[in-house]
Amino acid sequence: MSEGQLKREVFYLPGGRSGAFVNHKLIAGKSGSGKSNAGEFIVRQEVGKKKVIDLYDSGRFENMCYGLVEKNPYLVYKLKEITNNKIKPSAVPNEIIMVSGKGLEYNNKFPEKVDIKSFSESDLDITDLWYLIGKTDASRGFLAQIEYQLGKDEEEITFDKIFDALSKGRIKVHGATNMSLMRDIKKWKVSGMFSKGVDKINFEDILKDKNTLTSFSTFLLETDQEPVAYAMILKNILEAKKRRLIKHRIVLYIREVSNFMRSGKGFEEWALCRRYILMIIREGRDLGIDIICDTQRPLDLPTMFRNQFGYYIAMKMNFGDAEKMLEVQEIPRNIIGKVPHYGLGQALLATGMRWDAPVHFPPCPHRHKNPRMDVMKCLGKTKDWDTSDILKIEVNLEEEPKEVEDGKTMSHFT
Ligand SMILES: Nc1ncnc2c1ncn2[C@@H]1O[C@H](COP(=O)(O)OP(=O)(O)O)[C@@H](O)[C@H]1O
Ligand SMILES: [Mg+2]
Repeated sequence: MSEGQLKREVFYLPGGRSGAFVNHKLIAGKSGSGKSNAGEFIVRQEVGKKKVIDLYDSGRFENMCYGLVEKNPYLVYKLKEITNNKIKPSAVPNEIIMVSGKGLEYNNKFPEKVDIKSFSESDLDITDLWYLIGKTDASRGFLAQIEYQLGKDEEEITFDKIFDALSKGRIKVHGATNMSLMRDIKKWKVSGMFSKGVDKINFEDILKDKNTLTSFSTFLLETDQEPVAYAMILKNILEAKKRRLIKHRIVLYIREVSNFMRSGKGFEEWALCRRYILMIIREGRDLGIDIICDTQRPLDLPTMFRNQFGYYIAMKMNFGDAEKMLEVQEIPRNIIGKVPHYGLGQALLATGMRWDAPVHFPPCPHRHKNPRMDVMKCLGKTKDWDTSDILKIEVNLEEEPKEVEDGKTMSHFT
């Protein structure tokens, strides 16, 4: 295949042609090389055919701009030029869901387009709790007991019930474990993530509407709650597909995916989220979920994760990183050697079957966030949220700890 031979067709490639049988895509490149622009360009073409979810706002509301039409004359010119006038500036219907959280205490004014919603308590089930609070043998033992006891009556196990069982001493746990479990559960209870004061996120409705691109934001959550929210979103997507509730395919765009793959001390909460990403990427192809990720550091990703992608988009990056593309496809070294010199939006595409270089991704037809852009301002008219109702704590957390079986009261441990 000669260089540039397919240059003009390739913009449309990710959705069709060879893109049809290699689904998961990885976009790698330096910061500012145009990864997210390319990612947004690819996913927005799927709106109407597949359900598109843009999962991560990167803390800068970056995934909320699909509804804004690009007006910058230079970018509009470049878009038309590269696409032979086939694509004109336009927006796609975009639903923005912000997960409700404590952050509302500091800021309760958001654009009307941003909808604040919460999770159902039942979204976080006992298996998830094993990951989140089963840190020691004692806490795992407790969870097993509670699963057995509540399971006997075929009750749904919510963390509310677990909290109740703990505070009333219904299940025998050592004082210190009891306190640490209660503390962990309290964290979710007061987070606002499960607030009854706002609408619950209805995943079935969201996923059924393939004409609207859905963006999520965890802006209102604390750092250690964020991964739990992502885990629940991912899990709901996976379950909806497993239960065959959604007929069309789902495209899941995850920016800066290395942030999701962090492990070790301080990142324990990410384990659950990572578990669901790995499940989706492994089972997704058959279930009908296509993942597209972007990352600055592809080599930081676990190999078993990296190997699941069938379609690689290498934007400007170091020669050392670019060389790894040889694992995917036989690409002449002189072509690889050009990758470190690529300009904005230029990329080398490779699948197990073919490669194309250089490909020019046009700027998005909608506005793509640049560093100077105030997204919240651009989204227009704002609305005040009634914080008192949303952040109302529904349970009495001051309840006195009861005697535990071995005669010690938990106050010994406070
Ligand atoms: N193909 C392109 N043509 C023109 N400008 C682009 C292109 N791709 C990205 N940009 C601009 O470059 C900046 C960085 O792009 P972005 O996609 O956010 O980079 P990354 O995600 O790699 O950090 C943005 O301001 C964006 O508007
Ligand atoms: Mg980016």
